[in-house]
Amino acid sequence: MAALGLAIDTTFDDTSVAIVRGANTVLANLTISQFEDHKAFGGVVPERASRRHLEVIHPLIDRALAEAELSYRDLDWVAASNRPGLLGAILVGLSVAKSLSYALDIPLIGINHIEAHPYAGMIEHDDVTFPLINLVVAGGHTLLIHQRGHGDWTVVGRSVDDAAGECADKVARIFGLPMPGGKAIDDIAMVTAAGDYDFPRPLLNQDNLDFSFSGLKTAMKRFHDAHFSPEGNIAKEPVLAAFFESVCDVLVAKTLRAADRYGVGTITVSGGLAASRRLRRRFADAAAQTDLRLIHPRAALCTDNAAMVGCLASYYYAAGRRDTLDLRAVPNISD
Ligand code: KG4
Ligand code: ZN
Repeated sequence: MAALGLAIDTTFDDTSVAIVRGANTVLANLTISQFEDHKAFGGVVPERASRRHLEVIHPLIDRALAEAELSYRDLDWVAASNRPGLLGAILVGLSVAKSLSYALDIPLIGINHIEAHPYAGMIEHDDVTFPLINLVVAGGHTLLIHQRGHGDWTVVGRSVDDAAGECADKVARIFGLPMPGGKAIDDIAMVTAAGDYDFPRPLLNQDNLDFSFSGLKTAMKRFHDAHFSPEGNIAKEPVLAAFFESVCDVLVAKTLRAADRYGVGTITVSGGLAASRRLRRRFADAAAQTDLRLIHPRAALCTDNAAMVGCLASYYYAAGRRDTLDLRAVPNISD
């Protein structure tokens, strides 16, 4: 039977633990969000995040084992995301993983959280064939990744400034919407037709695979200040729906361009913003007009979770990859 593993992700503000058997069976996948803990501060407070991870991680692992009806002794390997993210937050999950590796004498596997995001889509599909283009639209990163096999990938497009999720969060804040902003804007875009506004579609017509969302954010701030400050006489919903169409247009077009340029047959879409129902529809419509296979995990697996970490770690475990106890926590994606 396939090996049993425990995967831990504490890279940012969610404490997540999963127990997997092989790459495609998730026996437990539990996440504790710190959303309410940081709400009053208007953003994630790193020290607070580390402390909170530390408070909940052990009981969460116990709960996951109980849910899977397993004990520590049943585990064959342990994995933790060791990059990128908040240093103190990563260290909590990584230190727990190292202690378990040492105490149980089982292999430790370090995982790149961004590399793991597309694996959310591979949990339920064991027939994904390489090469792929992965669009990862996480809060702090918008990346196009050309993947040739497990562990064999190159970033071929990235945001040169704000990520799409970050831009959506900032625009939501400007317009007084609740956090997470991507979800609030998606809720509006699902029920409101985009107004006839011509917001920028940054870098859309440039022949590259990079993104830039800070100009769009500035355009939205200017529009807001011109029409809604202190209060508006036009409805903000069609404005925000039009904004989100700009974001979707760019994400879809650049992903298809990457697929074409690298000659792949499959694209995946993952990361928190991929939980958007509007973006899902736009990608489904676009893929239907091509021969491309689209892998788009369900919403709960788009946002941060340890099951995706476990899925990737299972492939690495099977391939013999092992890390040592001096594995470092690395905050930056490019280090
Ligand atoms: O991947 P993620 O959960 O965290 C990071 O690793 O950064 O992504 C967070 C992003 C935020 O921009 C948030 O607004 C967006 O994902 N988000 C959503 C939804 N839930 C979170 N966007 C659209 N629809 C959602 N349901
Ligand atoms: Zn993430």
